[in-house]
Amino acid sequence: MYGMIHRAMRQMVHEELGEEAWLALEQKLEIGPTELLTGMVYDDALTLEIVSEAAARLNLSVDQTLEAFGQYWVRFAGQGSLSSIMKFTGQNLASFIANLDRLHLAVGSAMPGARLPAFATLESAPGHLVVEYRSDRVGLEPFVKGLLQGLMDRFHACGEIHVVHRGEKSILFDIRYQDKD
Ligand code: HEM
Repeated sequence: MYGMIHRAMRQMVHEELGEEAWLALEQKLEIGPTELLTGMVYDDALTLEIVSEAAARLNLSVDQTLEAFGQYWVRFAGQGSLSSIMKFTGQNLASFIANLDRLHLAVGSAMPGARLPAFATLESAPGHLVVEYRSDRVGLEPFVKGLLQGLMDRFHACGEIHVVHRGEKSILFDIRYQDKD
């Protein structure tokens, strides 16, 4: 995956465990700042190794770490240079999800080699969404769940996210939510 993902992972580990923990992880995997270059593409196997090492240090399973990282990514992208594109993508949960492919198309056009997901809203009613996630990657279900949770947080909503169908290349998420304020 793109180095920007590793960079976000580093920030999460920094915030949770401090810089020493990240440096120890880098040492164990024999990686350094080069593997964090925002605009470089790295093998998914390396990304997964980073997640596994982070999981061991956070005392979480790999799936729990992926979920926490998804939730974290929305906060990460909401700050700094990515914040304006996040703002333009949508002002509420339903419209943001409806525009996610546009967001990825916009950033992906400047990122050759990015393997982007596709999202589609299959059902939409007040407080209820059914969202399809399509990808050529496997194993990212907890990451997507965390991302959707992160989006609920972003829009001050609370609720529940359940997987209602798993296909070969797609997963359906059922989201029931209400505004906190
Ligand atoms: C400004 C914010 C964002 C940027 C710049 C961004 C960028 C990217 C890039 C470059 C990739 C491809 C990684 C690669 O193949 O190397 C990716 C993947 C992905 N993005 Fe985003 N993204 C953003 C926000 C989001 C949000 C809010 C979601 C919430 C659902 C999301 C969901 C995903 C998922 C699930 C993948 C994994 C792709 C797969 O399944 O193969 N992204 N994103």
